[in-house]
Parts: sequence; C-alpha cells; structure tokens
Amino acid sequence: MTLARAHTNIALIKYWGKKDARLILPYTSSISLTLADFYTDTRVTFDPTLGEDRFTLDGTILPTTKVTPFLDLVRDLAGRHQFASVSSVNHVPTAAGLASSASAYAALALAASRAAGLRLAPRELSRLARRGSGSASRSLFGGLAIWHRGFDDATSFAEALPAPKLDLAMVVVLVSAKAKAKASRSLMANTVATSPYYPAWVEHNQQACERMLQALAASDFERIGELTEQSAMQMHAAIMAGDPAFTYFQPETLAAWQTVQQLRAAGVAAYATMDAGPNVKVLTLAAHVPAVVAALTPQFAGRLLTTRPGPAATVLED
Ligand code: DP6
Repeated sequence: MTLARAHTNIALIKYWGKKDARLILPYTSSISLTLADFYTDTRVTFDPTLGEDRFTLDGTILPTTKVTPFLDLVRDLAGRHQFASVSSVNHVPTAAGLASSASAYAALALAASRAAGLRLAPRELSRLARRGSGSASRSLFGGLAIWHRGFDDATSFAEALPAPKLDLAMVVVLVSAKAKAKASRSLMANTVATSPYYPAWVEHNQQACERMLQALAASDFERIGELTEQSAMQMHAAIMAGDPAFTYFQPETLAAWQTVQQLRAAGVAAYATMDAGPNVKVLTLAAHVPAVVAALTPQFAGRLLTTRPGPAATVLED
C-alpha cells in the first residue's frame, strides 16, 4: 500500500496536441508552475484477494475504465499481476472547476509504482505519469517544470527547472465551476487535425519554450508574463480556428482578461492564462496579490483563489 500526494500545475507555455496519442508524445515542449493549494491524494493497494481493480474518487465508486489501463502499465513494469484498489481524494476548493488530470495521474503514478514494489527515478515516474495524461508528467515536480517533447517514449519526460529569483503567485478567477463544455482530449485531437493555425502554433510554441527558459534564467518577470499570455492566446486561437469552430471563452473570461490588462496599464505586473475551460489564472508576484485581488473583486467576489508555487509529489505513507 502507498499513499501519495501530487499537486496540480498550470502551464505557462502550453501543451496542446499529440504526435502519438497512445504514448502521449506532444508536438511541443511545455513549461508549467506547480501550485501549492490544489492537489490529489491517492492510495493504491495491490491485493491478491481482488478479482478486479477498484476505484473510488472522493468516496464515490467509479468505473475503472481509465485506471485499469494505467495500472496495467505499472503491472507490466513491475512484473506483477495482482489487481489493485485505488482511492483518490481531490483537494481542490469545492466547485473550483480545477480538478485536474495532472495531479490525478501524477499521484497515481507515484502511489501505484511504489505499491507495486518499483522505485522509479523522477524521469521514469514522469514518463509513466505522461501515459495517463500529458500534463501529469510535469506534476511530479515542484515549482517550475519543463516537459521536453522528446521523440519517443524514453525521451519525452519532464524535469524541474531552477527557481527564478521571483516571488511568484497565482490568482485563480472562477468564471465557471461547471463541467467542461468539451473534453480537452478530443478537442486537442480536433485542433491538430483541422485547425489551419496548428502548424504555426507548433513552430511558435516550441520557440516560446526557449524564450521562456531565457526569461526564467534572467528572472525577467515582464518577459515571463508576456510569453505566458502569448502561449495561452495562441493555443486558444488555434482551438477557435478548428472545424467545428469552438471556444472556451465566456464573456466573464474576457472581462477578467481586460481587468488584468488595466492592472498592467496601472503599473501592476500581472498576466493572464487560461486552459481547457473558461477560468482565468493570473500570474503575478506575491507583492502584487492584494492589488490583483482588489481589481478583480468587484466582479468576482467570492470567486478568487490565491496560491503560490507548490512542492514536488511526495509519498505520505507506504
Ligand atoms: C490546456 O494533459 O489534460 O491544460 O494528455 O489528453 O490528458 P491529455 O491532456 P491534458 O491537457 C492539458 C492541456 C492544457 C495545457 C497544459 O496543461 O499544458
């Protein structure tokens, strides 16, 4: 039995599109920030008396359609054949709409591999988590992480980046806590297959990774923020241009984005990003959090969450 915890991450330079859907190999590298306040705790017990895998999430019994193929990867690696019971709890503020496959598969990779007797190095753990969900490859690491796109299963993994000399913070704006309008996995495939902007996205986003590494190394927050906004907007532009056309933007998404622009015009360093849903995440510095929260409160009172960089995934019990 192993109980492990992994935190969610938000990509500053996004991952959007798979070159290989089975192995989850991405078209571009991506760079993310792991968050302190949102995480998943997962307990895995391999049990010789079980006749099938079992899965509960937040106390509810769920089908094992996604868990079993992932456990099969772990069983193959470990040379074990027992079924397992998996029990996960998402520690995301109620109805935040941030429940994430990143923290889920990172916690499952760590807990299941250890419970099966494996002691995988961080790179191997990241490769394993990647097979569950691409963004999970980055959630094994604290602070900033880069997922190198690589060219095959062995070379596509994430690793931690040195921390910039910046007191980073993130303010999450809860535009909507409803379930996603569209599952990101199929939309991602549709963008790759149909968006005329997709090839341009790949070229620019890969360059953006290099630029972000330079900006991080220089602790240049303005550049980090600009690159963060561009990567998000370019990803959403590629999504919008697909067939059928679609967007995650809602009126309040744009309203929050505009408030962030006004903050910048007033001299507050704040930059917006957004993933496969309408919520806006504002990247800022700890010193500016009160100003960011004050500017967003008139429209989003009670729908703002503030967080800081979070730690690497850890084993809590084994
Ligand atoms: C917009 O990692 O959830 O959050 O690999 O299909 O499970 P799958 O996708 P997932 O996609 C994340 C997309 C994103 C950007 C990012 O996290 O890089």
